Amino acid sequence: MLSKSMEEALNAQINAELYSAYIYLSMSTYFEANDFPGMASWMRHQAQEEVDHAMKFYRYVVDRDGRVTLAAIDAPPTDWKSPLAAFEKAYKHEQHVTGLINELVAQADEENDYATRNMLDWFVDEQVEEEATASAIVARLKLIGDNAPGLIMLDRELGARGTE
Ligand code: FEO
Repeated sequence: MLSKSMEEALNAQINAELYSAYIYLSMSTYFEANDFPGMASWMRHQAQEEVDHAMKFYRYVVDRDGRVTLAAIDAPPTDWKSPLAAFEKAYKHEQHVTGLINELVAQADEENDYATRNMLDWFVDEQVEEEATASAIVARLKLIGDNAPGLIMLDRELGARGTE
């Protein structure tokens, strides 16, 4: 059985993961509108991954006899000034999510909630990957700058996500 405070914290994380899905879906629409179909597709996959993260927390709360309570999801931004700006925001957002996961770990430790601590290990590892992926794309975009062929090539490469 989860403590009330842990139940609340995990519900807040479900909301944060769904907001992540929302912001990436919004980035997908930005890329669609600016003729980067590969980046749009990459962001759609990312959004789906975030829904999967939310569902992992959902399932865990239910399995521990907790109650999932869904709250309103904030509206995400809708526009960025460049693909680089969008991916920089994605990278920053992942750093923020890492902070949230770390807070949950600290709370689980404080409450001696070993099951939650154990479940969170997966997310600790996942955040390392999430940050590394976003950071690598930011670095590529910085190298490419305004070079159109470079942008088109990266767009094609990112569009291959989910088909490899
Ligand atoms: Fe659910 Fe991208 O962290």
